[in-house]
Amino acid sequence: MPKPEEIYELHAASCNEEDFWGQVKRTVNGKPISEENIALIVEQSRNLLQLQKSDHVLDLCCGNGALTHRVFDDVEDVIGIDVSPSLIATARKFFGSDKRIEYVVDDVLQGVKALAPDRAPSKAYMYGSLQYLPQGKVVELFKFLFDRFPELTRFMVGNVPDRQKKDAFYNSKSLSPDAGNDPASPIGVWYSKAELFEIASECGWDVEFHQMPDGHHAHHYRYDAVLVRGSV
Ligand SMILES: C[S@@+](CC[C@H](N)C(=O)[O-])C[C@H]1O[C@@H](n2cnc3c(N)ncnc32)[C@H](O)[C@@H]1O
Repeated sequence: MPKPEEIYELHAASCNEEDFWGQVKRTVNGKPISEENIALIVEQSRNLLQLQKSDHVLDLCCGNGALTHRVFDDVEDVIGIDVSPSLIATARKFFGSDKRIEYVVDDVLQGVKALAPDRAPSKAYMYGSLQYLPQGKVVELFKFLFDRFPELTRFMVGNVPDRQKKDAFYNSKSLSPDAGNDPASPIGVWYSKAELFEIASECGWDVEFHQMPDGHHAHHYRYDAVLVRGSV
C-alpha cells in the first residue's frame, strides 16, 4: 500500500504531462472539470483570501502549479510546496516562467519549518489537500503556522469533504466504520465543520466556513474554510 504522500506521485506518473487537472484528480467521471468550474475556484479563492498585491503567499500541497499560477497572478510572491517531485517538475516546466513563484519539493510540514525567516507569509492556501494529510500532521501544521508567523492573517483550506455529507454522498453503499478516516483513500479524511473548528481553534485560529460556489461540481459535499487570526 502506498503511503498517503506517495499517492499523487504515483498517479501523476501515469498521466499525460499536459493533463494538468487529471494529474491532481480534478476530474469528474475521469474527465477534467470544466473551465467554468476552475474559474469559480479561482474567484472564490482570491475573494476568501482577500488577496492584495503586497501579499506573500504560501501554497501548501500546491500540486503541479496549475491552480497556483492562476489564483496568485497578482501578488508579491508565492512559495508552493508539494511532496511530489513529478508534480513540482511539471510546475517548474509549464508554470515556472513566472519568477514570483518558487516551487519546492518537500513534505508540507518540513517545508514550512524550513522557510527562511525573511519569507514569512501574509496569506496561506491549501486547496484540495487537507484530507490527504494524517491528522497529527494537520494539528502540527496549523499550530506551527499560527505560532511562527504572526503576519499570517488568512489561511484558506479549500475543498474539504464534509463528514456530515458523507453518507448521502455514498448513498446506499455500505461503509466500513472507518470510512472517511483514511488519508490514503481516494477522497481522504472527511471533516465535519465542528471537527475542523475544534482542531483549528485549539491551535489559535478563528474559522470562517463558506459554501463552495453555486455551480461547482462538488458544491453538495465539500466546503471551503478560512483560518483567521483573530484580534488579540
Ligand atoms: C488533490 S492534489 C491538490 C493539488 C493542488 N493544491 C490543487 O488544488 O490543484 C493533493 C496534493 O497534496 C500533495 N500532498 C499530499 N501529502 C503531502 C504532504 N505530506 N506534503 C506535501 N504535499 C502533499 C500531493 O502530492 C498532491 O499534489
